[in-house]
Amino acid sequence: MGKGWNSAMYWRHLLVLSLAINIGLVAKVLLFQGAENEERLCAVEAGAEGAHFSKKAAHVNRGVGKGPSLVVAHGGRDRGRVVNLDHGDPTMYEMFWKRMDEETTIVIPGWQSVSYFSDPGNPCWFMEPEFAKQVVRIHRVVGNAVTENRYIVVGTGSTQLYQAALYALAPTGDDPNPMDVVSVAPFYSSYPLMTDFLKSGLYKWAGDAKLYDKEGPYIELVTSPNNPDGEPRTSVVNRSQGVLIHDFAYYWPQYAPITSAADHDLMLFTVSKSTGHAGIRIGWALVKDKEVAMKMTKFIELNTIGVSKDSQLRAAKILKATSDSCEGISNSKVENFFEFSFNQMTLRWMKLRAAVRKSGLFSLPDFSSEWCAYNQQAFKPQPAFAWLKCEGEIDDCEGFLKKQKILTRSGRHFGASPKYVRVSMLDRDPNFDLFVERLSTMSQIEGTTPVP
Ligand SMILES: Cc1ncc(COP(=O)(O)O)c(C=O)c1O
Repeated sequence: MGKGWNSAMYWRHLLVLSLAINIGLVAKVLLFQGAENEERLCAVEAGAEGAHFSKKAAHVNRGVGKGPSLVVAHGGRDRGRVVNLDHGDPTMYEMFWKRMDEETTIVIPGWQSVSYFSDPGNPCWFMEPEFAKQVVRIHRVVGNAVTENRYIVVGTGSTQLYQAALYALAPTGDDPNPMDVVSVAPFYSSYPLMTDFLKSGLYKWAGDAKLYDKEGPYIELVTSPNNPDGEPRTSVVNRSQGVLIHDFAYYWPQYAPITSAADHDLMLFTVSKSTGHAGIRIGWALVKDKEVAMKMTKFIELNTIGVSKDSQLRAAKILKATSDSCEGISNSKVENFFEFSFNQMTLRWMKLRAAVRKSGLFSLPDFSSEWCAYNQQAFKPQPAFAWLKCEGEIDDCEGFLKKQKILTRSGRHFGASPKYVRVSMLDRDPNFDLFVERLSTMSQIEGTTPVP
């Protein structure tokens, strides 16, 4: 027995040891992957709306920013969670679109969209006819813009169309001076960055339109309702050599009363903020002048040789589903999209105003009520962003809120005072609710005590 048994015992021990080592290794690999996935998830959750955002979020998520309040505490659920409302990522509409699965799903077979061309006879030759049809239809349904006798130009977001419009409106002659581009402060923080990014010889950022007193040609950007403060806007410079770009990203009935059908020379729209599909990257311009529409098309041709057909088809499907929901054509269980989004925004603004009142540390803009021709009622604007002011001695509102683990965008980026911040109202419910809850309890934490 002795020798045989010893040998059996020896092999059994070896087997147990080997099993233990393997289990240890497998556990290590799984743990490592878990940590890696968590980090990746943080990075994905972080991503949207430009350079301001991505660096800041990465910094905070890794806990390497200045000061103790930047370390993300993973324990204790929401207490230490960073609420990032710096960017205007419209994820709040996700819950509506989840209910519209059937109405919005498209299948694109491999043979489709192989050509560069969509509609060779159209000045915007890369625009899908179905997309153009749904653009005209949504404006007719909502009544927010005139589409008759207009050229439609599709773009990779209205961001690309903005640049195409600058190119098309700037004089092509031998004028050595770039054309000035102005907008009333506070203006959308990306305008100066997009205008000067390529140091164009055709145009340059010239700041606040209210302070603009130069003679000569200029471009004025009119954003209505305005980003960041939600105010309805009209042009202010009004000189003979000016041309206007109207940015109507937020002229939709969940944000502002539709007082009339906008009727201007060059108007920009986007699915990013209308239906909340920022990731599809589709915008459109309604342009009166054919030459301008053709120059914008040329810009996009030289920039990206057109606009993704797949994205245009998805945008068309979503715009169709939106119009159908408004006209009660789709599934009877489906709510009107603009009713849903209007009610959501109303609720959020009520919660925010209540929290601001309770804290006593902040203020918000007051709006006047106007009649909305779309939903046949008078209401006050309920913008996609809150233009929040830190009252009293708090001079750096962004820094102050950062200590409470709330990321916002300082007024400085919008040509305004750092006493203001822009806060996105379009995030998912849990983030928005946590923000409001933190804001409402701030007076009790004596202003500067950071959230642990
Ligand atoms: C006023 C305004 N214009 C344009 C855009 C960009 O829209 P898009 O996502 O279509 O490029 C934004 C996005 O935040 C915006 O606020």
